[in-house]
Amino acid sequence: MCGIVGYIGYGNAGDIIIEGLKKLEYRGYDSSGIAVIKDGKIEVRKQKGRISNLETAVENEHFNSTVGIGHTRWATHGAPSDANAHPHISMDKTIAIVHNGIIENYTELREWLTKDLGVIFTSETDSEVIAHLISLYYDGSLEDAVYKAVEKMRGAYGIGVLCSKEPDKIVAVRKDSPLIIGLGDGCNFIASDIPALLKHVRSIYLIENNETVVLTRNEVKIYNADRKEVKRDVFHVTWDEDAAEKDGFDHFMLKEIHEQPKGLFETLNRRLDKNGNILLDGISMTKQDLEKFDRVYIVACGTAYHAGMVGKFIIERFAKIPVEVDVASEFRYRDPFIDDKTLFIAISQSGETLDTLAALREAKKKGARILSVVNVVGSSVARESDDVFYTWAGPEIAVASTKAYTTQLMCMYLIALYVGYTKGVLAPDLYNEYIRELKFIPDKLKTLLKTEGDILEAAKGLYKKEQVFFIGRGPDASVSLEGSLKLKEISYINSFAIAAGELKHGTIALIEQGSLVIALATQDRLFEKMLSNIQEVKARGAYVIGLAKEGNKEIEKQADKVFYIPDCPDDLTPLLSVVPLQLLAYEIAKLRGCDIDKPKNLAKSVTVE
Ligand code: AGP
Repeated sequence: MCGIVGYIGYGNAGDIIIEGLKKLEYRGYDSSGIAVIKDGKIEVRKQKGRISNLETAVENEHFNSTVGIGHTRWATHGAPSDANAHPHISMDKTIAIVHNGIIENYTELREWLTKDLGVIFTSETDSEVIAHLISLYYDGSLEDAVYKAVEKMRGAYGIGVLCSKEPDKIVAVRKDSPLIIGLGDGCNFIASDIPALLKHVRSIYLIENNETVVLTRNEVKIYNADRKEVKRDVFHVTWDEDAAEKDGFDHFMLKEIHEQPKGLFETLNRRLDKNGNILLDGISMTKQDLEKFDRVYIVACGTAYHAGMVGKFIIERFAKIPVEVDVASEFRYRDPFIDDKTLFIAISQSGETLDTLAALREAKKKGARILSVVNVVGSSVARESDDVFYTWAGPEIAVASTKAYTTQLMCMYLIALYVGYTKGVLAPDLYNEYIRELKFIPDKLKTLLKTEGDILEAAKGLYKKEQVFFIGRGPDASVSLEGSLKLKEISYINSFAIAAGELKHGTIALIEQGSLVIALATQDRLFEKMLSNIQEVKARGAYVIGLAKEGNKEIEKQADKVFYIPDCPDDLTPLLSVVPLQLLAYEIAKLRGCDIDKPKNLAKSVTVE
């Protein structure tokens, strides 16, 4: 997610905006920039890298402008660079914009602007189209031009706009990306996030979807989609700065758990064309390329590896190709069978995990086609891959990965469905059915997150446990691994996951009176088997928490407590079943007083062997 700050008042806009951008650094970014209006012209300065680079770029400038907009960029389209940094300006340099979100139809808009209207683009970004559209429609009223421009756009956006012909005004508009208005005395602000404004104002307007805002020094007007002015209650911010960075959540991890519906929505919907077919931008493999592959390797570490394990099920089921999954630290030393008929999929949130990067290089050397699933645009794994499939989870700050995991899963589904359909091994009706079912998942996840209170109640009875077993079958066995890792890494409880069918081959010797067993039983076709496993451990005194699909009353006869997920096809349950486990780990760690966002001994990106 990008950061936006805008200011109009009587102070030094450059200083105030850069100061506000610094308050958004925690969100993660790769470049920054500002635009101000000075002597009737728009001045833009933007730099790749840290905000200190921007400060250096402007330190000798005496902007002494009183109106401007600024931006910190988290790249989604176009690698981090000065040119791709915001603000973007129109060709006639009269319009400057900053944008947070994704313009889904930017390709067709860019083509139309370039080919039909002769617009010359200066960046690779989706956002730049906004500046050209507003300039195209400008006819004396900035807000009218903004209205017309957004009517052409599909996607998510929080936008701030300057116009050199109307220097005493900022216009902002919002759809599905956050936007707030700071109300000052003789000055007003726009921002994507509260921390950017806290030093100056505590009275804000929360802008709703499809609303346009016109700010001057002494007035703020909000208009709805019908261009009717709307009144808005003032929200008084009582948070301190630390709470504000987490949007009011106690930890980044909990904030990111709650950002999963949006991450899944972005990662899925950006890749569906208007007919609902999958568009895999960033993947240049043809049907012939796909038919050449006789095996797939999925290689990753930690949580990303767990996503790959689910990916194995999905790709084998939909794309009918054998898949091997391995942890990168093992893969790179076992001299694997790799050749030019191998598709190698690297999964990495950071794109900088050394083991994964080394494994990728090993596979590349042996002729494999490299496809990576990465959250950080322009990261090393992305740069060294033949094709990159980005998760649009936004910056993941907490060390314990949550939203990256579920968006990695979404990428696995999209790749599997796309490859299976393109190769003609997946029936069109099944392809369409699964795409339809995937579109329901973000809202189902929102519903699931409302059960947070039940999970907290359960955690109160469990947080003193010193050992926890996770069991499951099929995809549930893979999700069990992820649930166990979450609990381990933030609560420091000795937890492990095992395929339920393996219990009787040794591990059940550990089950005793009071052992806590979390049994995932979402797979209809494996449910009877899971019931037997639950009975096995119950017979030895275990306390069992079951995890099943809504409507499954049978499990209540066996388990001591049940967490439910909304009903969905068996194959899609991992997108939902992991969430109660994330929340349980979080609530237990919180009750144990652990440092949830920065667990001991761990780093967010393991760039060493
Ligand atoms: C997950 O919660 C951990 N933070 C860790 O296992 C992580 O998934 C692993 O280090 C891989 O990181 P990457 O996705 O950035 O490559």
